[in-house]
Amino acid sequence: MSRALLSVLVVMSMAVTVGPARTADKTAESTSKSTPYTPPTIRYEAHIAAGGALPDGGKLINPFAGDKKVIATGEQMFSSMNCDGCHGGGATGFAAPSLADGRWRYGGADDELFQTIYFGRPKGMPAFGGLMSPEDVWTVVTYLKSIPKPEDVPTESWVGK
Ligand code: HEC
Repeated sequence: MSRALLSVLVVMSMAVTVGPARTADKTAESTSKSTPYTPPTIRYEAHIAAGGALPDGGKLINPFAGDKKVIATGEQMFSSMNCDGCHGGGATGFAAPSLADGRWRYGGADDELFQTIYFGRPKGMPAFGGLMSPEDVWTVVTYLKSIPKPEDVPTESWVGK
């Protein structure tokens, strides 16, 4: 195991044990509920719709979009939730990909970023929806969107809206 990965795992386990009490309570509460929770059906307006007809489904709307006051909190959360342990300080990339180069595998639109953080992604991105409230996730999304993206990237750009 590489030293970088090892240090990431150590920092992660620390983040889990010293995580905010409020989040821990919330997790305990939601796991003790007897009624199963079904996430709503969501449609992604940044995606191409066949025939231009979007499917039925709710929209994920960032309540903090462009709110400058939220950006600093999102930046702190990026560190306190240990996102930087994998993605590096300033989200410029470390053991996990850069989130600051304007290139996205899963899309850079607000709703796509929410989906990535809340539900996770298959190649090593943990789902944070059990630890972070939707508001927390939107706060981090708002921070990520505020990072200035370079005009030119070395390979093709997949910038979301
Ligand atoms: C354990 C390491 C780890 C942690 C902690 C982590 N990530 Fe990730 N993240 C990854 C990996 C690995 C990928 C690439 C996943 C893939 O390609 O399927 C990824 C992918 C992503 C992507 C998608 C990038 C794209 O190109 O579409 C976003 C956005 C993201 N992470 C945000 C976050 C945020 C925000 C946090 C903290 C709340 C976080 N990550 C914490 C490992 C991590």
